[in-house]
Amino acid sequence: MSERILTGIKPTGQLTLGNYIAVLKNLRSMMDRGECFIFIADLHALTLPIDPEVLRQNSIDLAAFYLAAGLDPNRSALFLQSSVSAHAELNAIMQNFLYMGELSRMTQFKDKSAKMKESAIGLGLFAYPVLMACDIILYDATIVPVGEDQVQHVELTRDLVNRINNRYGDILTMPKAELRKVGKRIMSLSDPTVKMSKSDPKGDIFLKDEPAVIRKKIMSAVTDSGSEVKFDPENKPGISNLLTIYSAMKDISIEEAEERFKESRYGDFKKAVADAVIEELEPFQARYKEIVANKSYEKALRDGAEKASAIANKTLKRVQKAVGLLQE
Ligand code: TYM
Repeated sequence: MSERILTGIKPTGQLTLGNYIAVLKNLRSMMDRGECFIFIADLHALTLPIDPEVLRQNSIDLAAFYLAAGLDPNRSALFLQSSVSAHAELNAIMQNFLYMGELSRMTQFKDKSAKMKESAIGLGLFAYPVLMACDIILYDATIVPVGEDQVQHVELTRDLVNRINNRYGDILTMPKAELRKVGKRIMSLSDPTVKMSKSDPKGDIFLKDEPAVIRKKIMSAVTDSGSEVKFDPENKPGISNLLTIYSAMKDISIEEAEERFKESRYGDFKKAVADAVIEELEPFQARYKEIVANKSYEKALRDGAEKASAIANKTLKRVQKAVGLLQE
């Protein structure tokens, strides 16, 4: 059976190597496995304060990054979440089927809201997983490729699908999160015990970083005591993270990477990691620049929104009918 594959990225900051490894690097193989719906989660970007011009620019950047990574708009749908109104419409229905208790247990909500005053936490941040569940459900997605931090949200979507199907008959498709074997959680280069995230300039490799900057960041990445290049996340989190990055770049197993560097010192190993990342990102950055200049993302987004709307509206109708809303 051909799969329905759906995934999205939030246009909230500079994209990182973590985003690249979780999603962008796999786009080509995803398209060989089934029909792909790939989107820019711009409504989700509004769940934390963001400047309108920054959001607009980030959304364009992200569209260009998807295309630069090999997304073929003729074989898949690339679109802005906000340009397919079914997301917001389904959200209005589904918010009644996810509950305060389970939403307040979401790690992402707990992490993000912990740093905020209660009076500044928007309802959208709390209800974030409802909209994300709608993103997935609307396309009858079977596979949702994500990094580890998003698995909890996909699990909640599965609970919702069960809940709705038990109550209204089998109207929704059950999705499944899919993680990369290597690289499901890329850690910060400056503190390898925390995740690399869009808001951590020191520990991040940004997809727009110049090769020289990438090299400098990797060469000065925090490493561990000892001198052996060995995968041991507990005792050697820094080296293990670099081994993960290398393996993900080269599409090899961690064991294979360990074997390659078993005689190496940290300095030589880091140089090889930097080479591997630059070798992959340099041509990608060149394609990105070309796409930004020729604006080919504009047509891709228009066509994608049309393709996506056609599918999403069908699911929306099915749900509206099932819950008792009167629709033509
Ligand atoms: P976002 O924008 O935070 O991240 C995009 C994707 O990158 C993955 N990721 C990582 N993977 C490995 N190591 C890291 N350090 C790392 N940092 C980020 C994320 O897990 C994600 O797969 N809620 C989503 C966007 C979204 C979505 C969806 C995704 C909205 N609706 C529906 C899938 C399906 C988010 O904020 O991802």
